[in-house]
Amino acid sequence: MTGHGEGLLVGVSALITGASSGIGAAAARVFCREGARVTLVARREPELAALAAELTQAGYEAQYVVADVSRSGDAARAVAAAVEAYGGLDAAFNNAGVPALPGLLHLTEDEVYDRVMDVNVRGVWNCMRAELAAMVESGGGSIVNNSSTAGLVATVAGAPYIASKHAVIGLTKAAAKEYAPHRVRVNALATGATRSEMLVDWMAGDPAREAAMADKAMLKRLAETEEIAEAALWLCTERSSYITGTTLAVDGGRLAN
Ligand SMILES: NC(=O)c1ccc[n+]([C@@H]2O[C@H](COP(=O)([O-])OP(=O)(O)OC[C@H]3O[C@@H](n4cnc5c(N)ncnc54)[C@H](O)[C@@H]3O)[C@@H](O)[C@H]2O)c1
Repeated sequence: MTGHGEGLLVGVSALITGASSGIGAAAARVFCREGARVTLVARREPELAALAAELTQAGYEAQYVVADVSRSGDAARAVAAAVEAYGGLDAAFNNAGVPALPGLLHLTEDEVYDRVMDVNVRGVWNCMRAELAAMVESGGGSIVNNSSTAGLVATVAGAPYIASKHAVIGLTKAAAKEYAPHRVRVNALATGATRSEMLVDWMAGDPAREAAMADKAMLKRLAETEEIAEAALWLCTERSSYITGTTLAVDGGRLAN
């Protein structure tokens, strides 16, 4: 998995889920800039196709797979496409996720719980099962799971989302322990409020929401999607070779505030 040449991920086969927008799309551009060969995964074909075309026209190696990570067969198909096109899988950023609107637990429908857990937890489970199998086969790799500050503390994001992001950190620790002997590192990001499509939609409903979220961070602003992507990138490179099982806060100081 060691990159050579000028970039930090030259020749590395990397899979990114939720790549059709927001943090995942930013990660696709950042990983390519460092020389990775990327497999972009999400449900929305037009957005994925446009991003893959942008990247290949810029001279990078990129392909896309339309897949729903909550389906194990889809996740396996995406990983198989990466292995087939690029000779293996070295890195994965399991970033696909859905929000739940804030609301009291007893007023939240079962369907919301099911949808959020299916994508945010089962999606990471499905992807890691396929990714770890490929990485064990090829002798190692690095996985980064996108959790949230809501994976460590209760935020306004609603109980299903908070529970789902805590579970992502649990899965991360378990996999890190089990796969360390196989030379696979597994880490999570505690991502803070980030100016992605997910959040822009939510903030559009009330301009005061952005100011309130920004105020919680020591840096008094939201993250840009690239700032989260850079942290995921670093955890996928050999520069972070002694880091596994950890959750890296990329939150402008929110959790320490
Ligand atoms: N934006 C924030 O403030 C913030 C904060 C903490 C954590 N996060 C996490 O970051 C991740 C990325 O979110 P974002 O902010 O970029 O939002 P986004 O809505 O722009 O991106 C989410 C991506 O996941 C994809 N996706 C959703 N369900 C999927 C499924 N079943 N199968 C495949 N792809 C699916 C979407 O198509 C999209 O590409 C999520 O896991 C989110 O929970 C975001």
